[in-house]
Amino acid sequence: MQDWSRRLVAENTISKNDLIWTVILSDGDKDRVTVPSLPGVERVNIKTLIKEAERARDLGIPALAVFPNINPKFKDTLGSEALNPNGLIPIAVRAVKKAVPEVGIIVDVALDPYTDHGHDGVLKDGIILNDETIKRLSDCAIILAEAGADIVAPSDMMDGRVGAIRKALEDQNYSQTLIMSYAAKYASGFYGPYRDAIGTATALTGDKRTYQMDPANSNEALREVGMDISEGADMVMVKPGLPYLDIVRRIKDEFAMPTYAFQVSGEYAMIRAAGLNGWIDEKRVILESMMAFKRAGCDGVLTYFAPRIAEWLDAS
Ligand code: PBG
Repeated sequence: MQDWSRRLVAENTISKNDLIWTVILSDGDKDRVTVPSLPGVERVNIKTLIKEAERARDLGIPALAVFPNINPKFKDTLGSEALNPNGLIPIAVRAVKKAVPEVGIIVDVALDPYTDHGHDGVLKDGIILNDETIKRLSDCAIILAEAGADIVAPSDMMDGRVGAIRKALEDQNYSQTLIMSYAAKYASGFYGPYRDAIGTATALTGDKRTYQMDPANSNEALREVGMDISEGADMVMVKPGLPYLDIVRRIKDEFAMPTYAFQVSGEYAMIRAAGLNGWIDEKRVILESMMAFKRAGCDGVLTYFAPRIAEWLDAS
């Protein structure tokens, strides 16, 4: 087949409009700090985050997803800093929305960057307390909406949190704030480098299997997504990405909702490590992975590769 006819019959394409750039924010003085397990990804401070948002705008990347690396001195068992209206994320969101209003800002509604045990909820006697956690998460969502976040993304997998957040947003007149739920989030080994990056790796006691999904299950993902949609999620996400494309496809077929996948830190690190070693053609593999996400039914992908992909699309 010749190039022109291959292009004519192609069923899927990759566009910049499919990209959500995941960025790690820290409260440090340094503009950029390398993360050893994520070569090429840096923790940036607010000043640099604004530069990255300008870069996203100039490259045509629709949105940034910002994750905080919180100084351990602000962490406690309840994750209290998540409820500080002048915490790192609210300040950063205000600054970025002011400087670069045309780029969408997505922030996690999550306690794990703020808890000293690294879990996504209020922990008592080794058990995560669902209802106490949900109350905190909805308070946190209001703070993020107030700061100007365009999309709040509950990433904890507690039961009933989407409904509680939706209600809190409605009650406080934040009806424009969208909810992207981490609807099918698996208890995965692929998050390792992220926990390094945000500084929860050493703190994390136990694992997250009591509230994140078992990789053995697929029907359960449909039930989780169904609940989140009925509770008011506007968009749903599957995480990790590539190893879970069967889940993406089932969700897209079943619900026909805006559906996203998170190409998580471990997926990034594997492709990057092999690329840096010259074991694979990195650019080709990254673009192939994007095409795989599209083929599976993703409307967009959260990825640390976003700016490189956008540059390659510009050059092609
Ligand atoms: C947790 C959260 C995690 C990621 C995003 N939000 C990790 C976890 O569940 O421990 C992972 C992102 C990545 O690996 O790139 N709220």
